[in-house]
Amino acid sequence: MIMLTNLYHHRPAVTKSQREQLNGHKSLCLWFTGLSGSGKSSIANKVIERLHEQSIHTYLLDGDNTRMGLSKGLGFSEPERKENIRRVGEVCNLMNEAGLVVLAAFISPFKDDRNMVRQLLPKDTFVEIYVQCPLQQCEQRDPKGLYKKARAGEISNFTGIDSPYEQPESPELIVYSGMNDIETCARQVLTYVEPRLKL
Ligand code: ADX
Repeated sequence: MIMLTNLYHHRPAVTKSQREQLNGHKSLCLWFTGLSGSGKSSIANKVIERLHEQSIHTYLLDGDNTRMGLSKGLGFSEPERKENIRRVGEVCNLMNEAGLVVLAAFISPFKDDRNMVRQLLPKDTFVEIYVQCPLQQCEQRDPKGLYKKARAGEISNFTGIDSPYEQPESPELIVYSGMNDIETCARQVLTYVEPRLKL
């Protein structure tokens, strides 16, 4: 038992490895990072659909959704984004422990924050997927009209406009969503992931 100032970590009666055996596949965290409008959520949704069809146990965490619950009240300053990613990282860790393949689609613009999640998770379970799409193209798509608002000064700290995006240095995978469609990007992710789910 590990003791942290009056907190006691209980060893679970059912382990992650037992859950993986029960599920018939390993648990992983697929972390999609990239600019707003790059296609993270669309690709992650396509991937999750394909995995579900193969009876893989999954869950999707998405920035727009978790910011309405788990991270309600957090804004987009650097420390608030850090806290957002820290919370999501902890949830990914729990879901990983629960034996799931968890997909996380977050801008997560800061290298340190993504690395914090990588460190939090057991070795080889964090798969960083950089959804690469030129800013100009994301801005042209502008599916939520947010780039327009950011350019007009109606939103501040907008990633790519007045807040930085630090590109991943050595992600497990890069998908080029500017020149490939969602289906192609999802297929690339699945090709990487499927062999890694085998027990
Ligand atoms: S993160 O930087 O903390 O990882 P997260 O992925 O949770 O961001 O949320 C991003 C979503 O919030 C965007 O897709 C967009 O819809 C919305 N949003 C609202 N304001 C901003 C902003 N200033 N910068 C980026 N995204 C914003």
